[in-house]
Amino acid sequence: MTAIKYDLGSDQILTLTIDMPGQSANTMNAEFRAALTDTVNKVKGDLDKIKGIIIASAKKTFFAGGDLNELHKVTRDQAAEFEAMVDGLKASMRFLETCGKPVVAAINGTALGGGLELALACHHRIALDNDRTQLGLPEVTLGLLPGGGGTQRLPRMIGLEAAFPLLMEGKKLSPKAALKAGIIDALASFPEELISKAREFIEANPKCQQPWDKKGYKLPGGAPHHPAMAQKLAIAPAMLRQKTKGCYPAPERIMAAAVEGAQVDFDNGSMIETRYFAELVTGQVAKNMTNTFWFQLNAIKAGGSRPQGVDKASFKKVGVLGAGMMGAGIAYSTATRGINVVLKDVTIENAEKGKSYSEKLLAKKVSRGRMTETEKEAVLSRITATASADDLENCDLIIEAVFEDSSLKAKVTQEAEPKMVANGIFASNTSTIPITQLAEASAKPDHFIGLHFFSPVDKMQLVEIIVGEKTSDETLARAFDYVQQIGKIPIVVNDSRGFFTSRVFGTFVNEGISMLAEGIHPSSIENAGLLSGMPVGPLAISDEVSMTLMQHIRAQSKKDTEAAGGTWQPHPAEAVIDAMVNTHNRKGKAAGAGFYEYPEKGKKYLWPELENLFVNREIAPSVDLQNLKDRLLFIQAIETIRCLEEGVLRTVEDANIGSIFGIGYAPWTGGAIQFVNQYGVRDFAERAQELAAQYGERFTPPALLLEKAEKNDIFA
Ligand code: NAI
Repeated sequence: MTAIKYDLGSDQILTLTIDMPGQSANTMNAEFRAALTDTVNKVKGDLDKIKGIIIASAKKTFFAGGDLNELHKVTRDQAAEFEAMVDGLKASMRFLETCGKPVVAAINGTALGGGLELALACHHRIALDNDRTQLGLPEVTLGLLPGGGGTQRLPRMIGLEAAFPLLMEGKKLSPKAALKAGIIDALASFPEELISKAREFIEANPKCQQPWDKKGYKLPGGAPHHPAMAQKLAIAPAMLRQKTKGCYPAPERIMAAAVEGAQVDFDNGSMIETRYFAELVTGQVAKNMTNTFWFQLNAIKAGGSRPQGVDKASFKKVGVLGAGMMGAGIAYSTATRGINVVLKDVTIENAEKGKSYSEKLLAKKVSRGRMTETEKEAVLSRITATASADDLENCDLIIEAVFEDSSLKAKVTQEAEPKMVANGIFASNTSTIPITQLAEASAKPDHFIGLHFFSPVDKMQLVEIIVGEKTSDETLARAFDYVQQIGKIPIVVNDSRGFFTSRVFGTFVNEGISMLAEGIHPSSIENAGLLSGMPVGPLAISDEVSMTLMQHIRAQSKKDTEAAGGTWQPHPAEAVIDAMVNTHNRKGKAAGAGFYEYPEKGKKYLWPELENLFVNREIAPSVDLQNLKDRLLFIQAIETIRCLEEGVLRTVEDANIGSIFGIGYAPWTGGAIQFVNQYGVRDFAERAQELAAQYGERFTPPALLLEKAEKNDIFA
């Protein structure tokens, strides 16, 4: 069976149906390339007999895009070979585009990346009107660029400015939105109409040429040298750099390919694109991002960390205790996925207030046209706000999100647990208290688990599932199913103070603050954070968390360490935090004053007094930026390795995904462990030793790291 079915009808219309054997979706792999070459050769021979060509798909989707298994393996040494392969594929597409006959893409479902590029090479695009269909060029999100002509055809079709968000942010559009944007030409309501409209186009347009192959073609919105466009393009790279902080080569190369390509003819533009594509494909950032955002994320989604042999659970009624910030968000995220929620607080007013959070979020969706009023009411009707534990009767799962207080948590556990169905699960959303300790209050500790959500719950995709000493595999498997049922990403960790994410997050914040203790300028610290790829600087995030909370967590950890017979090792950040809170009464953002000033009007800015209190003018000017960046990324990676070593983390996948989605670990690295792998495990261990000699034991390489370095192994 060939990947492309060749069907030349008696009406002289050739239908090419793509149907990659043994795959659920069509991808641009070696088999497809060979089939396309054969097809093109056949078309060459039949050209006189062909009136027009329809490109269709036999799968549910149109075309999934490039084959990442293939792309991920290409090395720098193979760059020339890779370029030749890409150019060969593009030549086939270019032949169809320039053969003079009308070529129509009949887009029956999602077309992403290479799939959309194939459609862009056609003269006319018709898509089946289905809001679930996605059309876009998401390569940039994996550190790549659309290397199948996308950076050349899309700007030539809709103009550089309109093409930029699609190319550089990977924005995906529904068929309706794509029609509006000028990326497709028509919609069809049902499959037969898709084909009949394609035929009509062919009958009506016996000869076809792309606009950019016609004499006198002008780039929509102006070519790069057009004065208005030149003005915009002069600042565009600087604006992009402000966003990427220089950490992401893909959007920069995409802009270069599009703008440089727009100044030459199509074929030369296509060559420029291939060169940049090869650079990105063989570069480290694309390897990092593809590894984590594609392969590892898919492994997690496929249930890699879920115990096997337990039937998939489906939750119908979930209780949420505490309708505060977290409880309200959990209720929203659960009800929007079709699950009934009982939202309980101490008073009905509190519970209703928690429910009104959903009302607000849903109303925003309605006002933006993303939801109907009826759909909104349906979601709200699923949330029962209450002050009575009796309403929790028959819940399959109850999640407590009351104040962070062990005895209160014990009380609500005992009150609610008996109401659940026989094999119901009780989960705690605690951010710091060990699950094993909380499970002591439970009558069924094997049914007790941690579900650590992140704030704001409606936006944050990650849920850290914490397995207590007595949590059963069945409970874990079913909790995993719940997280997936509400569309979030589960990682699984074993019990420990701060679990995984909070522990690692704490090292980042403390490292930043300890730089201030050393006399480094606060602006340098914040910039180092941002330039390393972290979404927010360590001082700004300390303000968000609040320094009183940091003091509180430290006091608790110190108490527990000492109770277990250990000695508390003070961190250099502690003195700064204590001075900020106790001496200067600057507790953080919620208190209106922290490392930053928060004027009522206007943007926040660093508290000027920090300079007098902490900055050492002798060392500040000579501080090495790379050193600061390394410290911030290394300290988190080292703590992550410790979590692996101690068995808090179970897999490298969970480490990478959890670090990025839970704490914003620089996404260009592919996560806290991929950062180590790509740095080179040996080099990383050496650099960690250097940092330990200079800044303290906290950088000392853990045994697991030394072991890997010794064997020249990677973390896998
Ligand atoms: P919050 O203070 O906004 O809400 C707590 C709610 O619990 C209040 O509405 C309170 O009235 C209610 N409550 C107290 N006693 C109750 C009882 N007996 N029955 C029912 N409700 C009761 O607190 P927040 O921020 O929502 O945190 C809740 C939990 O989630 C804490 O354990 C916290 O550590 C954890 N957490 C917080 C995160 C955050 O970013 N705020 C992130 C992850 C976890």
